[in-house]
Amino acid sequence: MELKNKIIVVTGGLGLLGRSFVKAILKAGGVAVVADIYITVSEELVSEVRKEQLPIENLHFHELDITSKDSVLSSINDISMKLGRIDALVNNAYPRNAHYGRKLEEVEYADFADNVSKHLGGYFLCMQQYALFFEKQGYGNIISMSSIYGVVAPRFEVYENAGFTMPVEYAAIKAGVIHLTKYFVKYFKGSHIRFNCISPGGIENHQQADFIAKYNSYAANKGMLDKNDLNGALIFLLSDASQFINGQNIVVDDGWSL
Ligand SMILES: NC(=O)c1ccc[n+]([C@@H]2O[C@H](COP(=O)([O-])OP(=O)(O)OC[C@H]3O[C@@H](n4cnc5c(N)ncnc54)[C@H](O)[C@@H]3O)[C@@H](O)[C@H]2O)c1
Repeated sequence: MELKNKIIVVTGGLGLLGRSFVKAILKAGGVAVVADIYITVSEELVSEVRKEQLPIENLHFHELDITSKDSVLSSINDISMKLGRIDALVNNAYPRNAHYGRKLEEVEYADFADNVSKHLGGYFLCMQQYALFFEKQGYGNIISMSSIYGVVAPRFEVYENAGFTMPVEYAAIKAGVIHLTKYFVKYFKGSHIRFNCISPGGIENHQQADFIAKYNSYAANKGMLDKNDLNGALIFLLSDASQFINGQNIVVDDGWSL
């Protein structure tokens, strides 16, 4: 499962999962382009990469807004000019507006539409434009982040007294990402482009102990995952070991959604 100089663009590459993905790509021999909003270079990530003695020359940065067609097109143009080609895209950004996360009764139509537009619309825009580039290039690989909540309905009892909920927009967005993936496989038949999804369960990120305990009671062994627990699935889908896997959704949740 080597990546052998594959050039991989990771949207939202400075986020919780994005940073871990970028380092896993470098470890596997790939070239990672961190494509995130409002950044030119992250000194923090650069120093983490140096500290872990990963090949710093294989780390690149590009400012990208996944909700802007001009920005997506510039990313394709600039990165392919600079590095000679693009082998894969990881659709991993997490745009949301200031009202995201309200419970169902309080979600305004405008906010529902805005959040679905930013996240699902942004994933569509990246898939559309990168797939058109990959079609010309003759091959490509797109991995999109979905979630267990794109596969199963929430267990709202886990969120009781947690102070946050599982937003209704998220269900629509993440189910949409899985189905868009299948649509793109069929549409780009014959173009040698692969499209797959990863659907993680909950990732531990300073949640309260009570929430974690409730969440974990539905899992098979570990419960909430560590941010690095998804790297195996990502590297597999990016590598040639998964060459003929197309249109699939790999659920990584320690059996939580069963
Ligand atoms: N963390 C989890 O528990 C979890 C679980 C299941 C699925 N996921 C999915 O994994 C993906 C990454 O999640 P995360 O927890 O790492 O998110 P995060 O919020 O930690 O990071 C998201 C990154 O996206 C960037 N971003 C936001 N808007 C953008 C835009 N318009 N253009 C480009 N970049 C933009 C942010 O700057 C940030 O660096 C998301 O699709 C999320 O839904 C996360």
